[in-house]
Amino acid sequence: MKDNRTPNYGLDAPVAVRNMLVVAAFGIISLITRLLGVWSRQDAIAVIARPLMLAGLGFGAMALWMIYDSKIGKIRERERYLDKINWKGHERVLDVGCGLGLFLIGAAKRLSTGRAVGIDKWQQEDLSGNNAEGTIRNALIEDVADKVEVNTGDARHLPFADASFDVVLSSMALHNIYNADERQTAVREIARVLAPGGRVLIIDVRYTSTYAATLRDAGLTDVRCVQGVFPYLLTLITFGSLGWGYVIGTRVIDKTSSSAA
Ligand SMILES: C[S@@+](CC[C@H](N)C(=O)[O-])C[C@H]1O[C@@H](n2cnc3c(N)ncnc32)[C@H](O)[C@@H]1O
Repeated sequence: MKDNRTPNYGLDAPVAVRNMLVVAAFGIISLITRLLGVWSRQDAIAVIARPLMLAGLGFGAMALWMIYDSKIGKIRERERYLDKINWKGHERVLDVGCGLGLFLIGAAKRLSTGRAVGIDKWQQEDLSGNNAEGTIRNALIEDVADKVEVNTGDARHLPFADASFDVVLSSMALHNIYNADERQTAVREIARVLAPGGRVLIIDVRYTSTYAATLRDAGLTDVRCVQGVFPYLLTLITFGSLGWGYVIGTRVIDKTSSSAA
């Protein structure tokens, strides 16, 4: 029987969004009290209230954009990203930092005999309502639970054998590893578990060019790092702290070792 519930893929960075909305609320209070003539430019409070109006505008816009992106934008974009893989239907897919399964489930929908495996350490600060049960519930609602498996684990030590996946995905997860060497370890782990002929797709708000360099270093070919016009705008308005983009690459089939075998 069809499940009529709507999947819930959560809100990215809920604590950051809440803090930005708090600043926005103070900005609005400052603006309203200024318009009502409660304070003027000469008053001591203006030293705090005037910058608050500006900060409130910036943080409020950013928070609204993050809510829109988590609830609408990312879900629409998912299909555009997944179209970059030439799906056959029998792939073994890994989603690193799968969260509530947005990409994991999107990939599973493109499989016939294949299997989509998600791994996550379920950090609450990165995604609201983040837990394995929520991911399984979403897979049930989207009618792909029979093709989906969910694991608890860390991107830096993937508990899978070398070359065990045909497609490895990761969306908005790796920037949450704050140490640069450890982020590189996670990207190397992704390259390690990718089978010859396999494709990797990493989407993130930061560090995508570094991921591309690490993938090339790990022997992947055809590695491309792409950023669009809107992401550049985002980089500009966030003073360089965000730089949305994606990296795609292939693990080439080693003809010498396959012919020797
Ligand atoms: C912003 S959420 C994105 C979830 C999902 N990929 C999506 O696009 O909706 C980031 C996810 O990465 C996970 N994560 C962060 N660091 C991780 C690590 N070292 N290993 C595994 N998962 C990690 C978090 O727990 C969270 O579920």
